[in-house]
Amino acid sequence: MVSVGTLVSGVAHELNNPAGTIMLNAEFFSKAWKDIVPILDRVNTSKGDYEIAGLPFNESKEEINQLIPDLLNNAHRIKNIIEELKEFSRKEDSPVKQPMEINKVIQASINLTNNMIKKATKNFSWESEEILPEISGSFQRLEQVFINLIQNACQSLSDNTHGIYISTGYDNEKNEIIVKIKDEGEGIEEKDLKKITDPFFTTKRSNGGTGLGLSISFQIIKDHGGSINFESKKGKGTTVSVRLPITPLKEEKG
Ligand SMILES: Nc1ncnc2c1ncn2[C@@H]1O[C@H](COP(=O)(O)OP(=O)(O)OP(=O)(O)O)[C@@H](O)[C@H]1O
Ligand SMILES: [Mg+2]
Repeated sequence: MVSVGTLVSGVAHELNNPAGTIMLNAEFFSKAWKDIVPILDRVNTSKGDYEIAGLPFNESKEEINQLIPDLLNNAHRIKNIIEELKEFSRKEDSPVKQPMEINKVIQASINLTNNMIKKATKNFSWESEEILPEISGSFQRLEQVFINLIQNACQSLSDNTHGIYISTGYDNEKNEIIVKIKDEGEGIEEKDLKKITDPFFTTKRSNGGTGLGLSISFQIIKDHGGSINFESKKGKGTTVSVRLPITPLKEEKG
């Protein structure tokens, strides 16, 4: 599987040329239209009203006058989005890792998803062993992982009597932090379990799911030297276990 950074920069690269062409053509068309209008106006006065694209000339002219800036604005928007994607993939490739407490990451993720959790369930809990060793990582990217996992848990619940339970702990033997996110939601079909971390795999397409949440999360946890594991029973619920090593990562520079 390709890394998210690679995937994003690939997509940005592929979109760059067509978006550039649309923008250049729109700019040229905008200039050309200014020169064409007086000619069409003259034809209209000398030969009487005629139609363009099924509309009387004057209506069509108004329409096109508005449509051209619209075309240009949207082409600029696409170019800006592509720039943001490129910037994202640059950052993705060089995350800064710092020592941190996992519970602070979990707390921040819960705070950011608080409204969603409240809407999804009346049974939410978070328990932690009191003292946990620090891990080394990127706060923002780990937060992104737990937000994605909490979001999936919330979206899996059929009603608010079903719960979501988060726990953090320490595996002494393996020297790893374990975060578990357990939901009593709809669960995952066995045939889908292998596919859920693939980019663009989603069963929520009609509700706006992109299928990128888990593939990004999987990549981030891998970059931290950890692992992510899914246990699920259709109709019963899902437990996601994230393991993160305590030992600072060797490849860290600076
Ligand atoms: N806790 C869960 N319970 C049930 N199904 C899940 C759960 N987590 C993930 N899935 C399944 O895995 C699929 C992929 O999840 P992923 O987070 O990558 O994408 P998504 O949630 O569909 O869309 P996005 O995260 O981009 O909004 C989901 O569509 C769903 O079928
Ligand atoms: Mg998701």
